[in-house]
Amino acid sequence: MTGMSWSPGSWRNYEARQQPDYPDPAALAAATRELEAYAPLVRLIEIDALRAALAQAQAGRAFLVQGGDCAESFAEFSPENIAANSSLLAAISDRLSEASALPVIRIGRMAGQFAKPRSVAMEVQGGTALPAYRGDIVNGIAFDAEARKPNPERMFRAYAQAAATLARLGPNFYTSHEALLLPFEQALVRRESRAFASSAHFLWIGHRTAFEGSAHVEFARGLANPLGLKCGPGLSAQTLLRLLDRIDPEAEPGRITLVARMGADRVAEALPPLIEAVTRSGRPVLWACDPMHGNTLRTAGGTKTRPLEAIFAELKAFFAIAGPRAGGIHIEMTGRHVTECTGGERRLTEADLADRYHSHCDPRLNPDQAMELAGLVARELAKRVPVAA
Ligand code: PEP
Ligand code: CO
Repeated sequence: MTGMSWSPGSWRNYEARQQPDYPDPAALAAATRELEAYAPLVRLIEIDALRAALAQAQAGRAFLVQGGDCAESFAEFSPENIAANSSLLAAISDRLSEASALPVIRIGRMAGQFAKPRSVAMEVQGGTALPAYRGDIVNGIAFDAEARKPNPERMFRAYAQAAATLARLGPNFYTSHEALLLPFEQALVRRESRAFASSAHFLWIGHRTAFEGSAHVEFARGLANPLGLKCGPGLSAQTLLRLLDRIDPEAEPGRITLVARMGADRVAEALPPLIEAVTRSGRPVLWACDPMHGNTLRTAGGTKTRPLEAIFAELKAFFAIAGPRAGGIHIEMTGRHVTECTGGERRLTEADLADRYHSHCDPRLNPDQAMELAGLVARELAKRVPVAA
């Protein structure tokens, strides 16, 4: 199958994990047909500009800051939220730009980050089993049968919210999300001089769908967009190189960002072999650190959280291991003063989490915690700036 030519729908010949089971296939087909006629959310010219900027980062002449919600939601959509999230991303970027004397590329996990992979397909509560919540583009978070039924009509609201968010973000931000919900992504592929995903500037392949034979890998390989690939602790160097051959056969500058999300306790053992193998291959890639997803745990009461100490430990290890190749960060944060991650200067404890826990998915850094993280990264980057004699 690997020899087959690419088309926006060629992923259907591969193994598509993490897809909802739509109860009404005709309604899904009708919805995607309608989306095929919609205007592109982003333009090829902007996608090309981002690829060029990321090529600069690969060469050490820029740094990447990618961040935003784990999952955007329909309920949390407001101009205030967009402003708060984008100002926080801008503040982090400014801090890092100042510390590194480099331009910082800002990519929001915004304007389309609606679909979530789940570790289990069904959620059981009090003896009732319902489909897991897969993000607002798929179904509702409320634990009732109607809300949890995957509904393709939700794609229209996701499209509209993404368009409205993009309109407010202005030209200083690129947008990104995990290219998870393949029927939606396929419907938004557009062709100009090349085929591109018009749902965002930058798309990434998540940890759970980054494997050989993956439909998500097949979908991504034909797109002009710059691509992220999450690298978890189970990924071997050999598999990574084969995935890169597949999604970036031309070794195109700016195309690939490898987002390491190993966990503080695994990074020292899991990351070096990947960096060594990719470096030896001579491929241009950008190495970024996602210090969030390998450091998630549950409290005794069952709340998902992330200790800042673990997040910071992974970041420091990343900078120590990658050295001058450390080219970016990928974080989950919000401009609202939530209490979802523990630790930090305000010493949030597990007991504080209940105060303002609003995430629809993973625990995010609040603005204080995000700026503290920016301080740590700024100190790492400042070490690199040559001191004038
Ligand atoms: C995410 O970025 O929200 C996510 C699910 O990450 P990963 O695929 O790395 O687990
Ligand atoms: Co997440």
